[in-house]
Amino acid sequence: MEETVKRIAVIGGDGTGPEVVAEALKCLRAVADKVGFDYEIESFDWGGDRYLKTGEVLPSDAVATLKTFDAILLGAIGHPDVKPGILEKGILLYLRFALDQYINLRPVKLYEGVETPLAGKGPKDIDFVVVRENTEGLYVGSGGYMKKGTPDEIAVQESINTRKGVERCIRFAFETARKRNKTNTVTLCGKTNVLTFAWDLWERAFHEIGEAEYPGIKRDYAHVDATCMWMVKNPEWFDVIVTDNMFGDIITDLGAVIQGGMGIAAGGNLNPEGVSMFEPIGGSAPKYRGKGVINPMASIMSAQMMLDQLGETKDADILERACIEVISKKMKSMGAGKMGMSTAEVGKAVVEEIEKLYK
Ligand code: IPM
Ligand code: MN
Repeated sequence: MEETVKRIAVIGGDGTGPEVVAEALKCLRAVADKVGFDYEIESFDWGGDRYLKTGEVLPSDAVATLKTFDAILLGAIGHPDVKPGILEKGILLYLRFALDQYINLRPVKLYEGVETPLAGKGPKDIDFVVVRENTEGLYVGSGGYMKKGTPDEIAVQESINTRKGVERCIRFAFETARKRNKTNTVTLCGKTNVLTFAWDLWERAFHEIGEAEYPGIKRDYAHVDATCMWMVKNPEWFDVIVTDNMFGDIITDLGAVIQGGMGIAAGGNLNPEGVSMFEPIGGSAPKYRGKGVINPMASIMSAQMMLDQLGETKDADILERACIEVISKKMKSMGAGKMGMSTAEVGKAVVEEIEKLYK
């Protein structure tokens, strides 16, 4: 049977995005060559520089073009010379919505040898995943102003929660718990005591689906504020956390920092039935642009997630093992400029570990 060649779209984006993606691509090449994974890449220059030159955030056929690919590898979006919101909404959020990437999967895993700010906690305590709803909630952009610019101004920003959107997210979370087979627990992170419409819908859907379809998975609930507290105090309690778009955004920055920082935190914007997009969860870090000091590990790990999602589980496994070696034994720190090596050296070290794993 003929193997189909996988096609990967690469959007380096802004700031340090292109630098970290370059290292991820080196590692991808190395592992694919070993395992015999056949793919081709096409790069797109979408981001702040192109916007400043052309006045266009994305070409009109961007979504149609991306739909012809098997996956997207994204660096970062956000440019210091562009007003905040234009690129974030026009590129990142637009693509998440237009490609219906309804899950934002963000693993929080502390690897051996990585420093966490949590005293007394280690790798066995910090290992869970956040399933963030990625196409609804406060991110929909529903709302508006009245009497803008006057003392009587009113600004409304509504959270949109659809039964279908909530259900597919919750099902994904239960499936993730089943697949992980760790403590077989899903924690719903919400705010049922105040946001009594939205979280009532989430809570009903959570228990109805859990009871009917996932009797083997335990259901837990924590308010979002308490979730933040437990993530710091008892992160070992978590296996899979499911939450809405806004809460998921907030708690995953906390998650990133307890797993060693933005330098290592990767995520996937998933459309399990369509095209998914993988990215480091930190920003474009423009102040480090071109200096060769940014940590590419989050981008490399996002490529690892991409391989996994493409069904290339052997490649994904090798790449993760190679990254763990470098993270645990070679890098001094996960922070930009503190790694004890340059951006390119981190990529090179991962490639060397991949070679070793095949000796
Ligand atoms: C993230 C980011 C984005 C978000 C921004 C850049 C729009 O913070 O991926 O978490 O809020 O989703
Ligand atoms: Mn965020």
